[in-house]
Amino acid sequence: MNTTNTHYDPLSRALHWLTAIAVIAAFVLGPEHFGRELRQGLDPATRWDIVAHESLGLLVAALTLLRLLWLTVRPAAPRFDMPAWMHLSAKATHGMLWLLLLVVPVSAMLALGTEGHPLTLLGGIRVNELPINANSSLASLADWGDVHGLLGDMILWLSGIHAVAAIVHHVALKDGVLRAMLPPPR
Ligand code: HEM
Ligand code: HEM
Repeated sequence: MNTTNTHYDPLSRALHWLTAIAVIAAFVLGPEHFGRELRQGLDPATRWDIVAHESLGLLVAALTLLRLLWLTVRPAAPRFDMPAWMHLSAKATHGMLWLLLLVVPVSAMLALGTEGHPLTLLGGIRVNELPINANSSLASLADWGDVHGLLGDMILWLSGIHAVAAIVHHVALKDGVLRAMLPPPR
């Protein structure tokens, strides 16, 4: 069956759902107030939830770069008939999600680098000195930990709205928008 007009290609679908799971897991494992504890001298390597949060967050960054590369060569995404305002708001939401998928991890690296915290990842990987250090002029521009926390909250809210919209398409409008991200029937 030819599904190019009704469904996203398998790689786009796989990368979409892997990213969604990783973002939600990173958020859930984003231990409350761990920024404050890091500033009080906590060694992040001693906390599995911090290590998991940073590893999942970097996985999101890697998956997003891969998706953006794939976006340039993949088959065209399916298109559905809908009013212009709806098409425009879907485009705007996707654009914001793409932007947040990039800036959430970047702001985290700025927070670690400018506050002098090590990057700690699963498998015992530890990078004590990130290229951006506390003396960098970037450090004084913002409290990057707060900026990162705010952007992390924003991506969750926006993806929640995006998921509700996909469900409304499926349940109320009964078009193929949600099915486009699911495997086609055999
Ligand atoms: C999609 C990915 C991510 C999401 C949704 C996310 C979300 C969040 C949220 C909501 C907070 C605030 C937690 C609180 O209430 O204190 C936070 C804090 C933090 N996250 Fe992430 N994060 C992501 C990726 C990353 C990455 C890639 C890293 C590091 C490699 C990271 C490191 C941190 C650190 C160090 C803090 C504490 C910041 C501070 O206050 O100094 N995060 N994250
Ligand atoms: C953190 C969670 C999520 C993020 C960051 C996210 C992000 C995105 C992005 C960037 C796209 C454009 C994909 C592309 O062109 O390849 C997209 C499409 C889509 N997403 Fe999500 N998504 C998330 C969760 C969800 C959930 C939970 C659902 C369903 C309940 C969903 C349903 C869809 C659908 C149906 C499309 C295709 C929409 C269309 O073509 O207009 N997403 N998502």
